[in-house]
Amino acid sequence: MRDLDYGSIPGLFIRPFRAWSLDASEIAAIAADCHPTRTARQEWWWHALPTLVAVAAIHERPPWKAIGYTQFSLAPGMIFFYDLAVSPAYQRRGVASLLMRARLRVGRAWGATHALGMTPPSNVAMRALAAKWKFLEGHLIEGHYTDQDPVEDGIPLIATEETWRMLDE
Ligand SMILES: CC(C)(COP(=O)(O)OP(=O)(O)OC[C@H]1O[C@@H](n2cnc3c(N)ncnc32)[C@H](O)[C@@H]1OP(=O)(O)O)[C@@H](O)C(=O)NCCC(=O)NCCS
Repeated sequence: MRDLDYGSIPGLFIRPFRAWSLDASEIAAIAADCHPTRTARQEWWWHALPTLVAVAAIHERPPWKAIGYTQFSLAPGMIFFYDLAVSPAYQRRGVASLLMRARLRVGRAWGATHALGMTPPSNVAMRALAAKWKFLEGHLIEGHYTDQDPVEDGIPLIATEETWRMLDE
C-alpha cells in the first residue's frame, strides 16, 4: 500500500497500521507512555479500529520506528477521533499535527463533513493543538473517561469550517 504522503518532516511518514506491521506492541507502548493512568487496551483494539502510524525512518532500511499514532471511526458524514499520541521524546516537532492532517484527510476522502474528538480539561497540549486547528470546544461531559483512574471529565472538540479549510493550505 502507498504511504499517505502528508509529511513535511524529513524522514517521517504516515502509514496505515495494517500496512505497517501486524505487531501492535509498538503502538501499545506509545499508548502506555502517553496515557499512564488509563486501563491498558486489549490487543484486539489496535487491530479493530482504523489506525494511522507516524513512522520515523531513523535508519536507511526497515525496521523503522513508530513514534506516534491516531485512531478513529468513520460514520456517514462523520469522523470520530479516539487517540492521538506522540512518544514523549518526539513531541513538539509537529508529529501530532501531521497525524491530525492525515486523519482529517482520510475523513474527508470518505465524505466526512463533521469531525469530533474528546479530551480531558487538564490536557493543555491537546486543547492547544485543537485550538491551533480551529476546533471549537463543547460543553464538559462529566465522568466521560471511565477507563482512567481516577475517572476524568471530557471536553468535546469539534472541527469547524476553518479546520477543513486548513487541509488545503
Ligand atoms: C497532545 C500531543 C499528541 C501533541 O503532540 P505533538 O507532536 O507534540 O504536537 P505538535 O508538535 O504537532 O504541536 C502542535 C501544536 O500543539 C500545541 N501543543 C503541543 N504540545 C503542547 C504542550 N505541551 N503545551 C502547549 N501546547 C502544545 C501547540 O500549539 C503546538 O504548536 P507549536 O509547537 O507551534 O506551539 C502530545 O502531547 C501527546 O501525545 N500527549 C499525550 C497523549 C495525549 O494526551 N493525547 C491526546 C488525547 S485526547
